[in-house]
Amino acid sequence: MPLELTAARADPALLDLPWSVPLADWPADRLAALPRGISRHTVRFVRVSNRVLAIKEIKVDLARREYAMLRNLERMDLPCVEPFGVVSGRQTPDGQPLDACLLTRHLQYSLPYRALYSQSLRPDTAQRLIDALAVLLVRLHLAGFWWGDVSLSNTLFRRDAGAFAAYLVDAETGELRATLSTGQREHDLEIARVNIAGELMDLDAGGYLEDVADPIEVSERIVDRYRSLWLALTESERFETGDRWRVEERIRRLNDLGFDIDELAMSTDLDGTTIQIQPKVVDAGHHSRRLLRLTGLDVEENQARRLLNDLDSYRAATDRQNESEELVAHDWLVSVYEPTIRAVPRELAGKLPDYARPVFLRIVSTLEVTGTFKLRKQELAEQGYDPARTDDPIYFDAAKEGRYERLDPPLHQRIIGGGERL
Ligand SMILES: Nc1ncnc2c1ncn2[C@@H]1O[C@H](COP(=O)(O)OP(=O)(O)OP(=O)(O)O)[C@@H](O)[C@H]1O
Ligand SMILES: [Mg+2]
Repeated sequence: MPLELTAARADPALLDLPWSVPLADWPADRLAALPRGISRHTVRFVRVSNRVLAIKEIKVDLARREYAMLRNLERMDLPCVEPFGVVSGRQTPDGQPLDACLLTRHLQYSLPYRALYSQSLRPDTAQRLIDALAVLLVRLHLAGFWWGDVSLSNTLFRRDAGAFAAYLVDAETGELRATLSTGQREHDLEIARVNIAGELMDLDAGGYLEDVADPIEVSERIVDRYRSLWLALTESERFETGDRWRVEERIRRLNDLGFDIDELAMSTDLDGTTIQIQPKVVDAGHHSRRLLRLTGLDVEENQARRLLNDLDSYRAATDRQNESEELVAHDWLVSVYEPTIRAVPRELAGKLPDYARPVFLRIVSTLEVTGTFKLRKQELAEQGYDPARTDDPIYFDAAKEGRYERLDPPLHQRIIGGGERL
């Protein structure tokens, strides 16, 4: 059977990998040594044309199904690993068939939960991981995705300003529906609770959980967190027509939780004395979208929340509450953010995690937004960091120099050509 490769962006370099060898026996010089969670299937990381791919050896029908599922989740803008392709038709030189491989892009700066502690897992770290997982689960459920195997092992975590952002890594058991029933959501939640309790007991038995923590008690947190977030996002509220401010208040509460309302159902009773509101479509990423719109900085939600707080205090301290937010944000970027980043001493810059520094900064005076204040990203994404395609100044994090450099066409060429390392 010939080797078959299905991929959205097929890369011929993939054909050079040793597909006729079982994944567990691939030579070490092909592999990237990055932290990996526990799993039934063999998973390895491989560097291919400047990117790192995660390869999972798995039956062909499962590989195709998981690939298609991840593509759907990706289209819905949900936080999950990015599917790259499926390789099937593998066989050894003497004709023995080998399982197929599912290829995903390695999620940069992410860590499996077991790599998030050096000696033992502190209860508050465990809680923060669970909080991040609860947000992920709510987002998946809002989109109609039933996971079926919710666990810390099937989640990757990125540090996010003292908290974590969670990404789905294993979609093998998942199903997509138009909407999920309460029973289906509760089923997933119960799976999550049992799996997390098991994972924590496992750490406890190995002496990796701090004594004070009770695995069962800590695992209950997923249920509380999930339920309260779900309610805050979906609950319908009724109030007197005179109390209209409560609509604004509901929107603000959702914003504080990090969500935007995309669609709000509002109705009055027959005699018009009470109003009922219910969020219909909510979108995560309120703070990161706002920061991106104002400054062009693209960071995770909690980091964005912190930077926005700083921007707000700058606005108050400079007494510019009545000026356009965009203008103040631009001044903050130039007079606070950039000098701060530049001021990080070179020897310390190396200690800052890379994800804490944007690779490119593009400074814009206005940003186009939709009617619901979402950023029109498509054109920005197309222009990327190409200085030939915009007059906006673009800066590049020249890590070697320890500062941001103005990006000009020659430097852009060097970056594209791989002459400048990112
Ligand atoms: N794209 C990726 N980026 C980073 N790490 C990844 C990626 N894909 C897989 N991994 C790592 O490999 C581990 C195993 O992957 P996965 O959970 O998909 O395997 P599995 O065998 O299906 O798991 P299970 O035993 O739950 O069925 C993950 O926990 C994660 O640490
Ligand atoms: Mg798994």
